[in-house]
Formats: sequence, C-alpha cells, structure tokens
Amino acid sequence: MLDMFSKIVVPFDNSELSKKALEMAITLAKQDEKITLDVITAVDTNSSVYVYGAYTSIDPIRKSMLEDAKKTLNDIEKKLSDVPNKTQTHLLEGSPGKSIIDFINREQPDLVVMGSRGLSGLKEVFLGSVSHYVVQKSPRPVFIVK
Ligand SMILES: Nc1ncnc2c1ncn2[C@@H]1O[C@H](COP(=O)(O)OP(=O)(O)O)[C@@H](O)[C@H]1O
Ligand SMILES: [Mg+2]
Repeated sequence: MLDMFSKIVVPFDNSELSKKALEMAITLAKQDEKITLDVITAVDTNSSVYVYGAYTSIDPIRKSMLEDAKKTLNDIEKKLSDVPNKTQTHLLEGSPGKSIIDFINREQPDLVVMGSRGLSGLKEVFLGSVSHYVVQKSPRPVFIVK
C-alpha cells in the first residue's frame, strides 16, 4: 500500500481543511522514509485586476500576495523540519486549479491529498471550485479530506 504512494503532493491554501490534509499526508509519509512530500500553494495574482481595477496598483498587490504565500510556506517548512522524509514547498503563480494540475502533470505524484473546501466559506456544495477542478482533471489519484 505505502509502496503505491511514495510521492505525495498536498495543495495548501492555509484553510482548516488544507491543514487537516497536510496532517494526514504527514502521517502517511511518516510510515516510510522513502515517501516524499511536496506542498504547493498557488497564488492567483491576476485576480487583483478585478478586485482593484487600476493596472498601476497591480504590481504592489502582486508582491504582497506572493510575500504572504511565502510566509505561509516558511511556516510549513518549519513544521516539516521535524519530518524525516524528503519534503519540499512550492509557490506557484496563476489560477489555482490550473497551476495545481500543471504541477501534477509534470511531477506525476502517486497521491494528491487536499481539502474538500477551502477559504471561501461557502458550504452549500461538497467540493470547492479548486478541489472540483483537480478531482476532474487529475490523471493521478486524489484523496479528499473532509
Ligand atoms: N490557491 C490554492 N493553492 C493550493 N491549494 C489550494 C488553493 N486553493 C484551494 N486549494 C486546495 O483545495 C481545497 C479546496 O479549496 P477550494 O476548492 O478553493 O474550496 P472553497 O471554494 O471553499 O475555497 C483546499 O482545502 C486546498 O487543499
Ligand atoms: Mg478557495
């Protein structure tokens, strides 16, 4: 079973369910030192265009969005330093669903572990837009944490 899942990827957005997904992935990885763990966070810097309108304001907003994501990943790196496995964090820029799928296509993990929902706070449907997109497009198995 663990041989089947020797490369695990966790898409992380700092939501409670993505934290739960990361905990689960760490527990899985700790079963065998050969398992590698990659945590990825995607920052949609283009979305600021719609929020703030003026093009002149994009660059500082983009920078602060990337800085926030870097801080999040630094915290995760601290947490991962206790884990004996090979671990890595990745900051991706672009629409989350597409960035995550590009990463999965490139890296071909054995398992993707992610939350059913994220930061939007909407609860009417079981999956969020990102988890829905990834489950549909991923060529690799996806484990949804709820
Ligand atoms: N920007 C992102 N980068 C990486 N992973 C993400 C990102 N956004 C969401 N995810 C992953 O997708 C899961 C579901 O989030 P999402 O589909 O965005 O739901 P919601 O619509 O509630 O925000 C999260 O728990 C997380 O694992
Ligand atoms: Mg979301």
